[in-house]
This record gives sequence, structure tokens and C-alpha cells, in this order.
Amino acid sequence: MTDSSDKLKDLPRGIALTPHNEEFRDDPQSIYDVLRLHAPRYRDVDYGRTLLTSYDDVRPALRDKRFSVNAKFSREDSYMRRIAATGLDVREGETAYEPPLVLLDDPDHRRVRSLMSKMFTTRAIEQMRGRVTEVTSTLLDALDGKKEADLISEFAGPIPTQAILDMMGMANADVGNFKRWSEDILMGYDPDRGPAVKDRLRNAYVSMSREFKVTVEARRQTLGDDLISAMVRAQEDDDRLSDLEIISLCTQLMVAGNVTTSDLISNGLFLLMKHPEAIEQLRREPSLIDSAVEEMLRYDCPIAETARIAKEDLSLNGCPITAGETITASMTAANHDPSKFSNPHKFDIEREANDHLGFGSGIHVCLGAPLARLEAQVAISALIERYPTLTLHPKHKPIRRELPFFRGFTSLWVVLA
Ligand code: HEM
Repeated sequence: MTDSSDKLKDLPRGIALTPHNEEFRDDPQSIYDVLRLHAPRYRDVDYGRTLLTSYDDVRPALRDKRFSVNAKFSREDSYMRRIAATGLDVREGETAYEPPLVLLDDPDHRRVRSLMSKMFTTRAIEQMRGRVTEVTSTLLDALDGKKEADLISEFAGPIPTQAILDMMGMANADVGNFKRWSEDILMGYDPDRGPAVKDRLRNAYVSMSREFKVTVEARRQTLGDDLISAMVRAQEDDDRLSDLEIISLCTQLMVAGNVTTSDLISNGLFLLMKHPEAIEQLRREPSLIDSAVEEMLRYDCPIAETARIAKEDLSLNGCPITAGETITASMTAANHDPSKFSNPHKFDIEREANDHLGFGSGIHVCLGAPLARLEAQVAISALIERYPTLTLHPKHKPIRRELPFFRGFTSLWVVLA
């Protein structure tokens, strides 16, 4: 007979709780169900962190001002330090690494976020609908006549990259380069990355920054009505964004907005192919696409977890956390917490009151959520409209990315018709 202390002894930790472990990669929910039940605030000694898996811990922690996102508060041996050592200590010419918005605390965060929010209005995003529809149609036309395709490289991958480049007034830039650099930069979030990854990461950051630098300089000469021009113009009280800040924000928007949205589109299409009755239903009632995308965000969210550092000794629902300690909050686990969502492992495109944490919560809640929603709604609707009998390819197994934090596929082969 096993009692609960035996259970605790056997719980996975460290790398076993990342997509480097095949069992976790294929089915994180089975592992999270056990953790949530037996150790919802789990001390993962291998990584020097406390992992939160219940909705009632994750949401408040993301909104708790006693936590920071700045690695300087982190203890040497803690998870956040391992991630923070990204190799992005770039100082090259006038290109230098600036921490992104998601790694800024107030008051810097408030200042930059408030400037950015003015550009990411619902109206500005809604204006993108026509262009996203156009990009989607072009990609669908390129699939014409094909029996099979890899949805990542031929559909879900290019759409968000092209959308962000369009917003920045860089419609003619090389989508493939920006996509590859974004994927490389994300490797900085792998606490187990090797030294070779550092070089790739650094090169990607420098190459992407260079492209943005040239564009920012051009906009300083002649302003347009694109996002980079808006950043150049942006001013609040006496605050202007410096060129370095603008380049860093562009890099962040590109990285945060493209891989994640590709993952939402492809994770969503994967779920639909696993539930062909949902494809039927969506074709009968196209207006269900909004709630379907929310369910995709809940069921298999592209940003799986995030990290914070305690600035002081504190207690989290009775669990002591000491200053400098890292917590990781799993949105993937919280979104399947049965105390919040009824029948959480059921994929239900009509789910009501779907208060998922796919875009986070609190001051760092996703700035690009309306754009991501719009792109996913347009892309998924158009694909199933054109290919209603879309199925997973019988010979090519879907391949999931092996990177912590970002949950998605690197290849997703389908039979189109
Ligand atoms: C499905 C796609 C997306 C998902 C799932 C997603 C998810 C998230 C999450 C969970 C956070 C909070 C991270 C934290 O608290 O540590 C976040 C922040 C952020 N996201 Fe997204 N995101 C998506 C698309 C986008 C897009 C399209 C953009 C912009 C083009 C974007 C820009 C940002 C920015 C700038 C932040 C930082 C906000 C801040 O710190 O105040 N995201 N996102």
C-alpha cells in the first residue's frame, strides 16, 4: 500500500517536469493532476523553485506585488538565475540588450506599458483583420492541389510573423529570418541549454536588432502610420522611448507575438483534428469560433508557465516562500484545475465562463491578446472552411517542441482532403 509520503517521494522533479521528458511532453496534465492533488505548492529541489499548479494559487501569485520579474532579486541557486543567464549580455556597436517589458517591475513597467498600450488599442488591432485575412488566403492558395502539408511551416508559422511585420511597416522583410531568429531567442528560456545554444541565441538577437535599428533610423527621418513610427512619436510627460528601448520592444513583440500565436493556431487545429465533431459544429455555427479559440487557449495554452521571484519572506496560502526564491506558476495546470473548471479534461468549444489564464493575469497580462485572438479566429476558421475533412497524417507523427515555457509543435503534418 502506498501512503501520501510515498507519493511525494516519487514525484518527478527538475528536467522531468519539462518537455525534455517525453512523458511530460505528451501528457503534462496526468503529471500535473498528481502534483495538484498531493503537492500543489511543490518544492522542486533540482531547479530551486516552488511550482504552483492550482488555479487558486497561480492567479493570485501572478497578481501579487510581493513578487518581482527581475532576476536581480533572485538567489544564485534559483531557477530564475538559470533562465536569466541567457547569454544576451550583448553590447555591440549601438546594439545592446535591454530587458523586455515582461521582465520589468514598476515603475519602469508602468511607464513602458502605458506607452505601448496606446498603440495596441482594440481599434488598431481590428484594422489588422483585413491584412490577416489576406495573408491567410495567400497561404491557403499555396496549398491548393496538395494532398498533404506541414501546417507549421506552410500555414500556422508564417501568419503571425507576417502580421507583426505588417504592423511595423516592414511588410517586405524576410519572414523566414524573423521566424528563425524568434525560435532561437526563445531557447534562452531553457534552463538546461548547452553552450552552443548561447551563440545561436546571441547571433539571433544581434541580427534581429540590426534589422529593427535600420528601420528605427529610417522612421526618425520620415514617420509613417505604422507601429515603429508610433513608438518614435510616443511620449508621456517627459518620457520618450530611446532607440534602444524601441529596438528591444520590437524584438520582444516579434518574439512574444509570433511563436505563441503560431502555437495557438496549431495547438488548436491539432485539438480539432482529435475532435472532428467540433469541426462539424464550427462549420455549422461559425460564430462559435470565439468560444472555440478561448477553449483552445484553456485546454493547451502556448505559454505553459511563468516565473516570479519573492522580494520578501512571505506565505502563499500557508506555504512559506523566502526572499530570493523563485516560484513558477503553471497556467497549463491551473487551466485544468477541477475546482475551477468542470470536467477540465473535456475539450468543449461551447464552454461558458471560461476564465482561463492562457494570457496570464495582473500587470503583465498579455498586451497582444486581442491580436492573437483575431489571428487564431481568422486562420482556423478559414482552414477548416477550405479543408473540412482535415486529418492528422497517418505516417508523420506530430512533433512537439522540447522547450520549457512555450508549448507547441515543430511539425504537424496533415492530410488536407
Ligand atoms: C496566443 C498567443 C499569445 C499567448 C498565449 C500569450 C501569452 C502571454 C502571457 C501568458 C503573458 C504574461 C507573461 C507573464 O506574466 O510572465 C504575455 C505577456 C506579453 N505578451 Fe503575449 N501572448 C500571445 C501573443 C502575443 C502577441 C501577438 C503579442 C504582441 C504582438 C504579445 C505581446 C506580449 C507582451 C508585450 C507581453 C508583456 C506584457 C507585460 O509585461 O506587461 N503576446 N503574453
